[in-house]
Amino acid sequence: MAWDVRPVVDLDEFKRAVGAIGHYFGGWPSDDESAQRFSANLPFERMHAAFDGDRIVGGAGAFPFELTVPGGPVRCGGVTVVGVLPTHRRRGILTAMMQAQLEDIREHGEPIAALWASEEVIYRRYGYGLASLSGEIALAGGYRGLRFGPAENTSARLVPLAEAKDTIAPIYDRVRRRTPGMFARTDTWWETRPLSDPPDRRQGGGEKNCVVLELDGEPAAYALYRMFPKFEQGSAAGHADVIEAVADGPTATAELWRVLLEMDWLATLKAYLLPIDHALLHQLSYPRRMKMRVGDALWLRLVDVGAALAAREYRTDGETVLELEDAFLPENTGRWKVARGVAERTDAAADLALPVGELAGPYLGGFTFTELVQAGVVRELREGAAAQADALFASGAPKPWCPEIF
Ligand SMILES: CC(C)(COP(=O)(O)OP(=O)(O)OC[C@H]1O[C@@H](n2cnc3c(N)ncnc32)[C@H](O)[C@@H]1OP(=O)(O)O)[C@@H](O)C(=O)NCCC(=O)NCCS
Repeated sequence: MAWDVRPVVDLDEFKRAVGAIGHYFGGWPSDDESAQRFSANLPFERMHAAFDGDRIVGGAGAFPFELTVPGGPVRCGGVTVVGVLPTHRRRGILTAMMQAQLEDIREHGEPIAALWASEEVIYRRYGYGLASLSGEIALAGGYRGLRFGPAENTSARLVPLAEAKDTIAPIYDRVRRRTPGMFARTDTWWETRPLSDPPDRRQGGGEKNCVVLELDGEPAAYALYRMFPKFEQGSAAGHADVIEAVADGPTATAELWRVLLEMDWLATLKAYLLPIDHALLHQLSYPRRMKMRVGDALWLRLVDVGAALAAREYRTDGETVLELEDAFLPENTGRWKVARGVAERTDAAADLALPVGELAGPYLGGFTFTELVQAGVVRELREGAAAQADALFASGAPKPWCPEIF
């Protein structure tokens, strides 16, 4: 059956389309106000709904993002709130929505799309591939010291959330411009997401705090965190959750984390969505105690392969020919030569053969072609081709990092 899929036109449709995934969250958005708050970042025209007659039974949104890739920011569909009601699952509605959404993303001039997956099995069939990893840590008390003493001229202060944006947004922006995987945040995004703290989303913890670290009197790092106090047999047994910690440079990283690590009353300091090459590993006296658990983070899709490859930076003069297979968007299928910062169709012999999704890792910098050849998911058609392609795609940028699930 062909499902009718189109963008929503008003708040009522928006609420019902978002409500498809909201159903699994227990009935969200519950009222017009929360739907309106969510739509402040997601225009109606970017929220697709799937209809069964006049009933909306599925939804899929795409934030108009600017996502950093090696070399700088690129326009990107930030795929979000994808859901199909339990009454209509496994009838091809997600597939129909993905088709409409990817076409729409391309029409909006976004050569790539990115998402966080609720389950890893869902999106490969639509051409997405694993592009980055993230880590979470749990540091026990007694093992939280840094290898070196504090830097000079540092100070930290707590800033009320309502006053934090003007201080912390520029720090985030400096870091995100050079970090693949980070996306630009608008004022509305800051206000409605990282700096909002509705009591019903505190999960038993205290209010969200913002600490700003200054180096030589200039804001250089910040963290958003929440305390979960608890005492057992008279001793502190609580924890704090570091929701987001962003630092501009190595000294700022060490001194921001020193503040977090040294907080009293914490049996454990927990932090989430960290870059897997976090400098803390080298700064802690007991790096093993980080106990980093690594998981998949961003899934990325090259929607317009030629435009996406051209939007990225290549630092060497090498070239590679990729034989791409894209069953879901067949217009991308074929042989692409990447050389001198341009991607063109070619008849030349291919160096590597791969499904389009496997390009996600090398494209963003999370994985190399060599790793994917070793995993058997990319085929090397000429000896040494993977290493050459890796040299071409190497960027010198840090590992991709997306600090926020969207
Ligand atoms: C995930 C979800 C959107 C899938 O929607 P759907 O309309 O049932 O998906 P489709 O019928 O289009 O499925 C297409 C294919 O993907 C497979 N598939 C989809 N979701 C799957 C899942 N969660 N696990 C395993 N396979 C899945 C289907 O089996 C089908 O395979 P086939 O083509 O070989 O038959 C829906 O189950 C849902 O809303 N789940 C809860 C919310 C959620 O996880 N949303 C994703 C947020 S990132």
